[in-house]
Amino acid sequence: MAHSYAGLFFLWYNGFMKTVLGIETSCDETAVAIVTEKKDLLANLVLSQQEHEQFGGVVPEIAARAHLHHIDTLVKQALEEAHLTFKDIDAIAVTAGPGLIGGVLVGVMTAKAIAAVHDLPIIAVNHLEGHALTVRLTEDVPFPYLLLLVSGGHCQLLIVENVGKYSVLGGTIDDAAGECFDKTAKLLGLGYPGGPAVEKMAHECANAPAALLKFPLPTPMVGKMGCDFSFSGLKTAVKHTVDKLPTVVERHDAADICHSFQHSVGVILGDRTEHAIKEYLALNPAPQHPALVVAGGVAANKTLRHGLEHLVKKYNMRFVAPPLKLCTDNAAMIAWAGMERLLRGMTDPIDFPVYPRWPLELLGASHV
Ligand code: KG4
Ligand code: ZN
Repeated sequence: MAHSYAGLFFLWYNGFMKTVLGIETSCDETAVAIVTEKKDLLANLVLSQQEHEQFGGVVPEIAARAHLHHIDTLVKQALEEAHLTFKDIDAIAVTAGPGLIGGVLVGVMTAKAIAAVHDLPIIAVNHLEGHALTVRLTEDVPFPYLLLLVSGGHCQLLIVENVGKYSVLGGTIDDAAGECFDKTAKLLGLGYPGGPAVEKMAHECANAPAALLKFPLPTPMVGKMGCDFSFSGLKTAVKHTVDKLPTVVERHDAADICHSFQHSVGVILGDRTEHAIKEYLALNPAPQHPALVVAGGVAANKTLRHGLEHLVKKYNMRFVAPPLKLCTDNAAMIAWAGMERLLRGMTDPIDFPVYPRWPLELLGASHV
């Protein structure tokens, strides 16, 4: 087939552009994605395992087996969707932790096999760094930015100084926000994962002010110094509230409780984030582009996003959040974090270990 000059230029240019294949298997999503240096998302496959629904939470052994069952097919499909072969891939990025170790091992062994057979560089990506950098795949957000990372296992406020460089301002002293959403959903029989179900139910609340009076819930840590969070008191309060209701909870009561719960989470996140904004601005007195980024599964909650967006206006900061489908676990974020590292020459030896725990602030440290 003959190519036009423009077509030939495109082929030549793309030959220099890096392409990374990313793999994510740290919880209950088996995911594979392909991104380019130019931020094109050529494939983004996420298989959310349904096997856990009957247990109301993720069962690690079932998750690992399901990852093993699906991963090879997903890699093949991602390449087909992107119209690429392994020859077009410049590096493999894979979640090496933190997460459920059986699942992480499935992804890492798959990635290592691909890298060994096709002689490709490999990048061990911290799942949290994946969440932290996702926003740079879809938006132009320069460092340093303030990050509220809210997922099923983590709740932290950090300054993202650079790739691999994070300063923690605060974190949860007990549960994560997503865990609290999941528990609330479980108590109300709304299924798993709980976050989207609670958000949907909260929208059904017919009289918001009355719901807050009928089912008042606490806002732990609000007004306290610093940027730490606590959610266990809120979780327990939801349990006591539900325990007082008849065994079969009326739908309007469930909607009112979800509204009140979501309101409390919003107040907690807002208060803690406001403290963090002040610390961020004190540490970076004249940032050129001050920004608050929210990431992780809970960042998919539209009510919480709006609340934070409203808050940052007071500080003349930009509010940035990834598109909803890139908030919950996916492999685009892993491929992109891999790309950020590849472009800085931060690849890993193929014998890297996996990490059940891997705090962001320890990235780059030799012992975790
Ligand atoms: O980031 P993620 O997909 O996985 C972890 O790394 O943990 O986050 C999953 C968490 C779950 O707890 C889920 O209930 C919560 O994010 N989540 C939400 C929403 N969508 C997912 N929480 C509140 N509102 C949502 N719309
Ligand atoms: Zn996650």
